[in-house]
Parts: sequence; C-alpha cells; structure tokens
Amino acid sequence: MPYRPRSPGLRPLVAGNWKMNGSRNDIDEAAKICSAVAGGEAGKAEIVICPPATLLMAMASSCNGSPVRFGGQDCHAEPSGAFTGDISAEMLKDAGASFVIVGHSERRRAHHETDKIVRAKATAALRAGLVAIICVGETRAEREAGGALPIVGGQLSGSIPENFSLERVVIAYEPVWAIGTGLTPTAQDVAEMHRFIRDRLNRHLPEPGGNVRILYGGSVKPANAGELMTVKNVDGALVGGASLTSAEFMAIAGVYR
Ligand code: PGA
Repeated sequence: MPYRPRSPGLRPLVAGNWKMNGSRNDIDEAAKICSAVAGGEAGKAEIVICPPATLLMAMASSCNGSPVRFGGQDCHAEPSGAFTGDISAEMLKDAGASFVIVGHSERRRAHHETDKIVRAKATAALRAGLVAIICVGETRAEREAGGALPIVGGQLSGSIPENFSLERVVIAYEPVWAIGTGLTPTAQDVAEMHRFIRDRLNRHLPEPGGNVRILYGGSVKPANAGELMTVKNVDGALVGGASLTSAEFMAIAGVYR
C-alpha cells in the first residue's frame, strides 16, 4: 500500500531500526507488532519496522493487510547497476518497503557518508516512491563545544533533497552520544533542537516546514518515551535497541494511545 500522509495535521510516527540484528525466527516479532497495532495499541501513531534487508520481504508479506509499514536502513543512490553488495531504493520498494532510513550516524561514521551522499540517497528514496527518514545529530564533543545547533543545521541543509515534497520526508534527530548508550538529552535540549529544526525547515523550504515530522532517536525506552514524545515539535521516535522485542516497542508506541 502506498504511504498516504495525513494532512494538514501531523500523524506521529514510531519507527524501529533493527540495525544488523534478527534472523528468520524473528519474523514472528513483526507479526506480533502487526496484531497489536490492529488491536489499537499504537493509537493514532503510524508504525514502521526497518529490519535488515534479508528479512524485509518476509516480514512485509507476513504483515500483509496490516497498517504497519516496513522500511530499509539504507539505500544506494542509483536505481541499479554494478554496485556489489548495495541495494537500491527501487529494490527496497519492490521488497515491500514504504520507508528508508538514510544518513544514520552509524553509516555517516563507519561508511564515511557525507551530507552530499546522504542527499543523493534521500533523493533516490523519493524517486522510488519511498519516504526518506533523514538522520541528523551531533557528537558529544560537538555538543560540549556548543556546536550542536550549527552542526545539525549544516547536516539539514546538506542532506535534504532539493525540490522535494515535504510529505515524503521525515527528519530524525539522533544525538550520536545518545545512540545505544542509555543517555538522553534533557527534555529542554530536545525542545531546543526540535524547535531549531522546525525553524530551519520553515526557512529553507518553499512550503511551510510544519508538515515535516521530526522524530527523536537515541536510547528511547518505554520508561522515557512518555516524557520525550510529549516535547513540543517531537512527532515520534526512531527506536533502535528497544524495537527488537514487540513488547518494548509497543510500550513505546503506546504513548500515542
Ligand atoms: P538506540 O538506537 O535506540 O538503540 O539508541 C537508535 C538509533 O540508532 O536509531
């Protein structure tokens, strides 16, 4: 089913990033999430699971007919060709994806992805008809040096595709130092950053940026989701570790019930 954004209001989005975890035994975990969502446990939130590419097709077919959507964790900028080991946005779409994460800090760091590369991947996602979840976020050293806002501002202007439809882009603010560490910024810091991102989107885009969902990511857990998700301009979460089990993931999505 194609993704249809709700307009003009923003529908919260809770996306699970499984990273390099999971085997075919975990397909059931996705099925459990699908039935919980069908039972109303995520309330008004849209739910997306981004499993490793090896599980995408099987999970998407096991949840056929469910409102839960699936996504890739990365894509190549080209639609096809001699790029050994890579997967294009079109291939993800063909496998059942509606979303793709691009520019995750783990890829920016370990695969040397620059803003320019991230923008090319996000553009490819839109070309293929996927929603691009574009990740931005500062390191601890950058925050301590007082540079969090300009760093994220630079990533935003460098990574967002030009001339894109706002409805097909989601921004995920993920402070690098909060990912997988159990640490989170204060609600005040999250509010400041999300307000900044909202202003940037409003300023730089032809349409009002109010329609772009801005997710918070980095050590989101059932215990802190309630506080983080109610911060102004936080339109949902990108969840890593806590998305691997349906119970934890649904406890987070349940804040939107
Ligand atoms: P985490 O990961 O929830 O395990 O911190 C978030 C992410 O990297 O998207």
